[in-house]
Amino acid sequence: MAFPTETVYGLGANALDEEAARKTYAAKGRPSDNPLIVHIAEYEDLKQIAVDIPASAKVLAGRFWPGPLTMVFKKDAKVPYGTTGGLDTVAVRMPSDLVARELILASGGFVSAPSANTSGRPSPTRAEHVEEDLSGKIDMILDGGSVEIGLESTVLDMTVDPPVILRPGAVTVGMLEKVIGMVGIDETVLGAENGKVPKAPGMKYRHYAPNAKLTIVEGNIREEVLAIRQLVYDAVNHGKKAGIIATGETLHYYSNGVIKVVGSREDERTIAKNLFAVLREFDGEGVDEIYSESFAMRGIGNAIMNRLDKAAGHLRLPAAEIVRRQKYRRIVFVSQSDTCRGPMAAAILRQKRFRQEYVIDSRGMVVLFPEPVNPKAEAVMRSNGMTLGGYTSIPFSETEIADDILVLTMDEAQKHKVFAEYEEAVSIYTLNEFVGEDEPLLNPYGMPLNIYGLCYENISMLMDKLTKKLNSYTEGEG
Ligand code: TXA
Ligand code: MG
Repeated sequence: MAFPTETVYGLGANALDEEAARKTYAAKGRPSDNPLIVHIAEYEDLKQIAVDIPASAKVLAGRFWPGPLTMVFKKDAKVPYGTTGGLDTVAVRMPSDLVARELILASGGFVSAPSANTSGRPSPTRAEHVEEDLSGKIDMILDGGSVEIGLESTVLDMTVDPPVILRPGAVTVGMLEKVIGMVGIDETVLGAENGKVPKAPGMKYRHYAPNAKLTIVEGNIREEVLAIRQLVYDAVNHGKKAGIIATGETLHYYSNGVIKVVGSREDERTIAKNLFAVLREFDGEGVDEIYSESFAMRGIGNAIMNRLDKAAGHLRLPAAEIVRRQKYRRIVFVSQSDTCRGPMAAAILRQKRFRQEYVIDSRGMVVLFPEPVNPKAEAVMRSNGMTLGGYTSIPFSETEIADDILVLTMDEAQKHKVFAEYEEAVSIYTLNEFVGEDEPLLNPYGMPLNIYGLCYENISMLMDKLTKKLNSYTEGEG
């Protein structure tokens, strides 16, 4: 039967019965060389199933048992090879969850329990997850609600000196070292493809994987957000549905895609707790690709990144590379009053297809208070199937000056004015200059409607050229 523990739900059976182990593997669809953890409820019981127990084990048990720490020892003959996947060692843990403890005591003291998921899927952190995977294949699920930690226990190999972490968990290397001094970390725990076989047999399989292709995007948090936005934009442009694993702190930077908050960067335990549930949820969303932010490799962050890395099949992308391709992220059209040519250019450009996402705006150099757009400009836009809506003019300000903002002015006059007023101004061009047209843009102010029509044609041609130029920055990439 499945039961809750403080880490994840386990699939419990009699650890001293070979046949029980066989049934456990069958229900999970798990390769039988992957050993099970034996769960106990009393420290004294350890001596019945393990031999050569080093003194440090008692110290660690005193500090971390009951709790999310599994220790590996030489096994006693009593433990069948079925339970240990053919190994001469046995992994032992004493869970703190009270339901788990009662179950172990009621069933004789030795309960083998792998995570109660189908092999390869994210571990279950709620009874519903167990039901999804194992319904019909097991006899019972004890529903204890949501688990407390959400990632499986730390596995520590006590058969070597110093002990070595085979699987990172909520009991971190720092916490262990405080108690027993130096502790090693198995090289394969965080390294991707270095050709080494992990010592914990279960760590070599692709794990925790959602149906969609998952990619971890790595960089500083600003780069990660920008890169994920770009990747999702690309996915959507290619007719795909993309998901984002975001945090409370970054949520509001995303707009496209299926966005899920995994937790808060302020308290990474929240991320550990929700990670598997979020990976499962994506399966119900029918997304083709998932992009995840990455997390600092300290404390429980090691365990989070270890699980995420496995779920992604080690697929990681450097955010900086993607961000570097984006010369500009925002385009601002600047006219005198922001009531005619600027808003027209912005509206026309927004209809174009780009290889990256641009924020497109217009601003005026002389705007004392918000003014509605010129009615002739609106009339021309409408005859071309567009509208400037209820737009009202906005003054140019220093928020429009930045390395990644392209400022395009309608005439030379505004360009000079921007340069004169803002010392730091860099990417400022007249529209025709930027796209390589000799003729300056027509100014229809005070002219009859047909001249506004000509101006529309003029802007339209310039926007075609501008689109080509912007798209050329990312040509041949992505
Ligand atoms: O938090 C947990 O540990 C959960 C709950 C249910 O207690 N259990 C769990 O079990 O995660 P499982 O079977 O999904 O993962 C056990 C891990 C695997 O990576 C396995 O290879 C490793 O522990 N392991 C078990 N016995 C081992 C041994 N004798 N030597 C080395 N690694 C071992
Ligand atoms: Mg497991």
